[in-house]
Amino acid sequence: MANSIRVRCPATSANLGAGFDVFGIALRKPYDVIEVERAGEGVEIEVSGFDVPSEPSRNTGGYVALRMLEEFGLRGGVRIRILKGIRPGSGLGSSAATAAGVAFAINRIFALGLSRGALVRYAAEGEIVSAGVPHMDNVAPAIYGWFTMVASQRPLRVYSIRPPRELGILVMVPEGGKRSTEEARRVLPRKVPLKKAVRNVACASTLAVGMALGDLDMIKVGMEDFIVEPARAEAGILRAFRPLKEAARKLGVSLAASGAGPAVLVITEPSARKIRRILGALGGVLEEEGIRYSFYITELGPGVEEMK
Ligand code: HSE
Repeated sequence: MANSIRVRCPATSANLGAGFDVFGIALRKPYDVIEVERAGEGVEIEVSGFDVPSEPSRNTGGYVALRMLEEFGLRGGVRIRILKGIRPGSGLGSSAATAAGVAFAINRIFALGLSRGALVRYAAEGEIVSAGVPHMDNVAPAIYGWFTMVASQRPLRVYSIRPPRELGILVMVPEGGKRSTEEARRVLPRKVPLKKAVRNVACASTLAVGMALGDLDMIKVGMEDFIVEPARAEAGILRAFRPLKEAARKLGVSLAASGAGPAVLVITEPSARKIRRILGALGGVLEEEGIRYSFYITELGPGVEEMK
């Protein structure tokens, strides 16, 4: 049994339009790198890259480690080194990546033999510490990889599908103006008109089948949302969302908020030329609005994995 492990923890994007709290994808980049080593007593954390709390009970990974050490009565402690490659608060599952990475690593170095479902449950507890809300649509793809559906939380049922073709993904991350996930959830409607619910069911099912078949047209048609994104755009939670959506429509692609934002993403053909063209148009929209941004050209990827 190895005493230490280094893992790659992927960024994830939740919702994909109508799949609020259900759909998620794992991205090849960006990602965190986490090293967990059996050492000392209790939990010790070092953070580099982006700034997040290093106090174990306030760190999403630290909290997972504390819970797992206690629950399994594990002797000795762990030292965790977190190299954050995912900007916190960007809408790309930064806290979920760390939580999933630590759950995966502790399972390995203490040979606990936990299932992926159990790892999702532990990682989700860490998510609650940081996001304050019990949603699993980031931790599920962070553990399982590819496209995931959290079909039910109790009992936990997660399905993961690897589309049978490559998909190109452009993620745009507008800077500034981030509101907490909790706040982004407070603006959501408590009641939904049946007509909108029907449109969302149509979109979600079309997107899920599109992922299973690797059918980009279905993914494009399905990546729309008539309930959550409009409410968040209206409340000013999603920055420049309407003009971005409009620019995407003109380009013939679908754009969705990544989780509670501010990042947005487009799924399209894996063609560098096409993605550059979309990037130019969406970047132009953000520049016009005076919003600085960063971006990633990426693709779907696996969940947390050991780095050799
Ligand atoms: N489904 C969650 C939300 C994801 O949209 O609030 C947050 O990352």
